[in-house]
Amino acid sequence: MTTLGFLGAGRLAQMLAPKVAKAGWQVILSNSRGPDSLADLVTGLGDNVSAATPAEMVERSDIIVLAIRWPQVEDATSGIDWTGKVVIDATNNRLGPKPEDLIEIGDVLSSDVIAKNVPGARLVKAFNHEPIPVFDQSLPPKDDASVLFLAGSDQAANDAVAQLIRDLGAEPIDLGPIDQGGKLIAMGGPLTNKFKLYTPADAKAAVGADA
Ligand SMILES: NC(=O)c1ccc[n+]([C@@H]2O[C@H](COP(=O)([O-])OP(=O)(O)OC[C@H]3O[C@@H](n4cnc5c(N)ncnc54)[C@H](OP(=O)(O)O)[C@@H]3O)[C@@H](O)[C@H]2O)c1
Repeated sequence: MTTLGFLGAGRLAQMLAPKVAKAGWQVILSNSRGPDSLADLVTGLGDNVSAATPAEMVERSDIIVLAIRWPQVEDATSGIDWTGKVVIDATNNRLGPKPEDLIEIGDVLSSDVIAKNVPGARLVKAFNHEPIPVFDQSLPPKDDASVLFLAGSDQAANDAVAQLIRDLGAEPIDLGPIDQGGKLIAMGGPLTNKFKLYTPADAKAAVGADA
């Protein structure tokens, strides 16, 4: 059984965790307050879901989702050995949905900032490009609006995340290296915030137009 770990156990983690567990994966949640603080939550999410400290979660997981908010990234990722781990960067450099919620990071990609905080990790950008309710309503997809994008510079890591997306019933589209494809799904990128998932045909047309 494959294990997906979450660094953070808030809205994004609580939306995805039961879907991933239902797809037959083991799920481990973690936060800053320790596994005991997550006991009621994991009980409610079912048999395949458990809680651990962040360091234990990373050690035991095949893939880790960064499900913490931007200001928490440095603190949450420190003191952990990330070497060789497949890490999904689901973060956005913003505090909320409004324009004034954007956290200015200058002329750098948010995934470059994240990469510095998880040294040695095989970073894949995914699960960030739409609001949480869109993922919640669309996984598993109810029609052919089924595309989830990903971007990363390690093909085996991309393939592992693509399999996770397939196991959730969706259609992965690999946008290639994180410094190229990642720009399309970074906050404000052309493939973000459509408030629904693309169909495969529409996604291919949009990627072709924006690549
Ligand atoms: N909002 C959206 O629609 C959306 C869509 C896609 C992606 N995202 C991105 O997803 C990420 C998570 O968002 P969210 O809405 O799920 O946030 P959230 O509900 O605030 O959850 C954040 C989680 O991180 C934990 N945390 C805080 N500090 C920590 C630390 N030092 N170590 C370990 N865990 C820590 C918190 O628990 P404790 O405080 O108990 O530790 C909490 O469980 C954000 O980067 C966001 O931009 C959001």
